[in-house]
Parts: sequence; C-alpha cells; structure tokens
Amino acid sequence: MALLDLKHINITYHVGPKNVYAVQDANLAIEPQDAVGIVGESGSGKSTLAMGILQLLPDRVTTIEGEAIFEGVDLLKLSREELNKRRWTDISVVFQKSMNALSPVHRIGKQMEDVYRIHRPQADKNEAQSRVIEMLKVVNLPERVYRSFPHELSGGMMQRVSIALSLLFNPKLLVLDEATTALDVVTQGQILKEIMALQDQFNLTRIMITHDVSVVASTCNKIAVMYAGRMLEMGYVKDVLVKPKHPYTQGLLKSFPSFTGAKEELRGIPGALPDLSVYPTGCVFAPRCPYATEKCRGELPAMQSVGECWHAACHMLGGEG
Ligand SMILES: Nc1ncnc2c1ncn2[C@@H]1O[C@H](COP(=O)(O)OP(=O)(O)OP(=O)(O)O)[C@@H](O)[C@H]1O
Ligand SMILES: [Mg+2]
Repeated sequence: MALLDLKHINITYHVGPKNVYAVQDANLAIEPQDAVGIVGESGSGKSTLAMGILQLLPDRVTTIEGEAIFEGVDLLKLSREELNKRRWTDISVVFQKSMNALSPVHRIGKQMEDVYRIHRPQADKNEAQSRVIEMLKVVNLPERVYRSFPHELSGGMMQRVSIALSLLFNPKLLVLDEATTALDVVTQGQILKEIMALQDQFNLTRIMITHDVSVVASTCNKIAVMYAGRMLEMGYVKDVLVKPKHPYTQGLLKSFPSFTGAKEELRGIPGALPDLSVYPTGCVFAPRCPYATEKCRGELPAMQSVGECWHAACHMLGGEG
C-alpha cells in the first residue's frame, strides 16, 4: 500500500477576480521507502502541491480538492490541529528557506529543544537535550553548533540544522523542497549524500522537490515531471531519465549537460510557461511542443501507462508518434 496516495489534487489560488490553477489533477502514489523527485521549471506548481497537501496554504485565497491519503487517512479532511500533530512526527518538510525561520537571538540547541518539547510536552530537559545533540551529530555538525547563534553558522550548516530539526521525531515521510538548491555544489553534494544515508538508517520515505534533474538522477528512484500545474510523466528514474516519453521531459533533459558520453549542444525549450489563470483546454505543453497537433491544442491528454510503473500524458507518445 502506498504511504502517500495523491488523487486528483487540484489547487487554485484566488487572486482578486482571477483564479490561478497552480495544480491540476495531480495523481501520485508514493510507496514506503521510495525517494520521489518532483521536477519542473520555476512556477510549475511543485511547492504549491507540497504545501497544499500539508494545509500550509492560506485558506482564504486557496481552494484544494482531491484526496491525499497518508496511511489510510485523508490529510485534506483533517483539521489543521490534527494535521499539525502529524507534521514533524509523521511528515516533515524542509524548505529552501527553512533556515530563515530560526530565531536570530536564541542558540541553536535551545531552539531545537523548544521544538522538541512542543511535540513532546512530557519530555524533560535532559531528554530534549540528548535528542537534539544526537540529531546534530547525525547531520555531521560539530558540537559547538549546539551553543551557536544562527549568524555564527554558514548557509550549509544552517541547512543541516533544518534537516536535523526535521528528523527530530523520526518522521515516516520527509519532504525536501529545494532544500539544498541555494548551496554550492560541493556542500550540496555532501548534504545529499547524508540525506540518502539517513534514508536507509531511518527507513525514510522521501519527496525531493527540485528544478535540478541531476539532483533527482543522483538521489531518487522515481521521478514525477511537472509542467504548468500538471504532471506530464512519472516513473522510475532509470526509465524516465534514460528514455523519456514525453516531449517536455525530452526537452528538459536536453537543457541539462550530460556528464558522460559525447558533448552535445545544450538546448533550452523555446517559449515560456503558459498563463496559469487560463484553464487549459488542450495539453498544457502544446504551445511549446515541437510535435503538437490540432488534437493536442484542443483535447487534454490523459495519463496513460507506457511501461511498468511508468505513465505519460501525451497524445503523441514518444514524440514523433
Ligand atoms: N500565494 C499565491 N497567490 C497566487 N498565485 C500564487 C501564489 N503562490 C504561488 N502562486 C502561483 O502558482 C504557481 C505555482 O507556484 P509554485 O511556487 O508552486 O511553483 P514552483 O514549481 O514551486 O516554483 P519554484 O521552482 O520557483 O519554487 C505560479 O504560477 C505562482 O505564480
Ligand atoms: Mg517552489
């Protein structure tokens, strides 16, 4: 059974008289111990999807429909209080700017202990302290960090603190939203390696949200490709990144350099994301797709099976058809 099963998720922002259809009919099943990379250009709806299913978006300006079944319970039917209890303990999220959430005037150790004791009010000082010190060690931070203030740490160290925080309660699902994107490649590489080791150590299931396909290639077993609010292709990394079926995935891969093989010219995808306030009638990628036909422009392609655990939404599967 999937640990998290997303079914027909639609998320719409209401901006004045306009609607922004940020996530449209997203379906994704995440099995225990999967590492699923959600990739897509900036503005494709990745963060909206993650924040939406955890009810982190403001109620007043967002509508969310569908089901997000986590261990048999629909997260979208829980009250915010009920979901808050599950956050950190069942599902933890690390955002790109998580480190900015730390208070500048308190020492790291104290802040982490406060978080620990909010969720474990019966814990005494010693229990909280030893757990915090243990988690700082797990993410390879030196002991002095416990007594440091945030401004005394580098960006990479702060991001490690955020990851240590997210692991305080042994969550089953860890969601990393561009958690390492702002770091230099060496530090990013080290942290990604640690995250993968932690996944084995703690039996974690992981969702990795990024616009960097190479991060997914090196740290995930499955991938879901999002474009303009829609999932266009999903499957095992070993299939999707080797023989992409959807023209958008093909274009996305051509925009990244390959580390092996012959040097190829990098090609971007001409055009820009469509206006998300206009609900698409056809395929969202049709305006930029080199293979688009009348049918693509007029009719929404359904997600279809193209292999084992491999799906793509395209009328012209394989590109040339
Ligand atoms: N609070 C909001 N009100 C209105 N529209 C929003 C709001 N937040 C995001 N959007 C719109 O929703 C769409 C998806 O945004 P989202 O932040 O989910 O994209 P993303 O894939 O996470 O991008 P990035 O890679 O830049 O983080 C964008 O078009 C964005 O402009
Ligand atoms: Mg984002």
